[in-house]
Amino acid sequence: MKKSTKSKSPRKKYQVGVVGGGAIAQALHIPGYAASPHCELAAIVDPSPARLKEIRSKGWAFRSEYQDYRKMLAAEKLDVVSVCTPNKFHAEVAIAALESGADLLLEKPVAMNLKEARAIERAAAKSGRRVMVGFSHRFNSMNIAAKKAIESGKIGNPFMIRVRFAHTGPMAGWAKSDWFFRPTLAGGGALMDMAVHAFDIVQWLIGPVTSIYAQTATLRHNIPLDDNVVAVLEFGKSCLGYIECGWTSPAGFVGIEIMGDHGAICCDYSKGYATLTTQKSTAAGTGKSRVTKLSVNSSSWSGEMKYFTETLATKKPFVPGLDAGLATQKLIEGAYKSAKTGRKVTLSSAR
Ligand SMILES: NC(=O)c1ccc[n+]([C@@H]2O[C@H](COP(=O)([O-])OP(=O)(O)OC[C@H]3O[C@@H](n4cnc5c(N)ncnc54)[C@H](O)[C@@H]3O)[C@@H](O)[C@H]2O)c1
Repeated sequence: MKKSTKSKSPRKKYQVGVVGGGAIAQALHIPGYAASPHCELAAIVDPSPARLKEIRSKGWAFRSEYQDYRKMLAAEKLDVVSVCTPNKFHAEVAIAALESGADLLLEKPVAMNLKEARAIERAAAKSGRRVMVGFSHRFNSMNIAAKKAIESGKIGNPFMIRVRFAHTGPMAGWAKSDWFFRPTLAGGGALMDMAVHAFDIVQWLIGPVTSIYAQTATLRHNIPLDDNVVAVLEFGKSCLGYIECGWTSPAGFVGIEIMGDHGAICCDYSKGYATLTTQKSTAAGTGKSRVTKLSVNSSSWSGEMKYFTETLATKKPFVPGLDAGLATQKLIEGAYKSAKTGRKVTLSSAR
């Protein structure tokens, strides 16, 4: 049989627009798209001409530049939009981009509140487009190994999870302005910014949180928002959890620990590896523990972008999607309510 001489048509390149060209766009989104053979840097939006210049100076050659996302969406035919603005603008940009027919990579927290998050969900359903939420910790190899180990029964049934995600805060050294410290632009403090990651990771590893008791405080920064939060979580009747997140921590443990009936997993971001510890006890009270290395730390950001850009070509929904975004938004609201009232807040599974 004669072989076809027709060459395969080249794979379509996805036209990408990035809205907000600040720290996360420059550290995660733009390098991820630039490294992908499937994507083309079509358009960038930032109200700041200095930011647009900074992006150019780093060698990222977007075809077009805009200072208003509405103008970009009207002028370009985009397949994908990354939403990397301060939180206040997430919902309006996300809804407009979905209406324009683009798939989204939407930064966390998905919106300022649950009401806005639900409006994004409705726009996604109406447009039939897909949304991935930037819960980057899910792409860390230590956390992926931990999930596999839990699911394959290596520690038995988990009864406790603790998460500590903390650093010195977004200013100075990370964000391009002080918007994280302004309630009208951020919507909340360290709870909104950092605990949102913890809320997602515990629900991914263990399951739905059924109640939350939280305490927030402004311990060190002179800002009108919380810079630290501690929360106690219930997962039904069989597992408890606690998280500590903050913007005032130059050092200390950062990571996740999951305790189960037969062992424990520790994803230690500070040390850069995850371990599995199992212990067999005897009637005489002696115990022999065995520690094995599960995985070393990997760049969750490049993993996230590799997954997102490769999944674009499929019809599959992105994971984590908007359902995870809404679930965390419920916990943010529950935590602030608990901190304000001093009471435990029960979370319903109703949407
Ligand atoms: N996944 C993560 O781990 C992670 C880490 C950091 C930040 N984030 C999230 O990313 C988002 C951006 O944070 P950042 O740290 O990059 O802040 P940033 O201040 O560094 O950047 C924000 C950029 O958005 C621009 N901008 C402001 N209003 C805009 C508008 N209306 N339209 C377009 N651009 C606008 C600003 O000029 C700035 O360049 C936030 O939602 C934040 O929570 C996620």
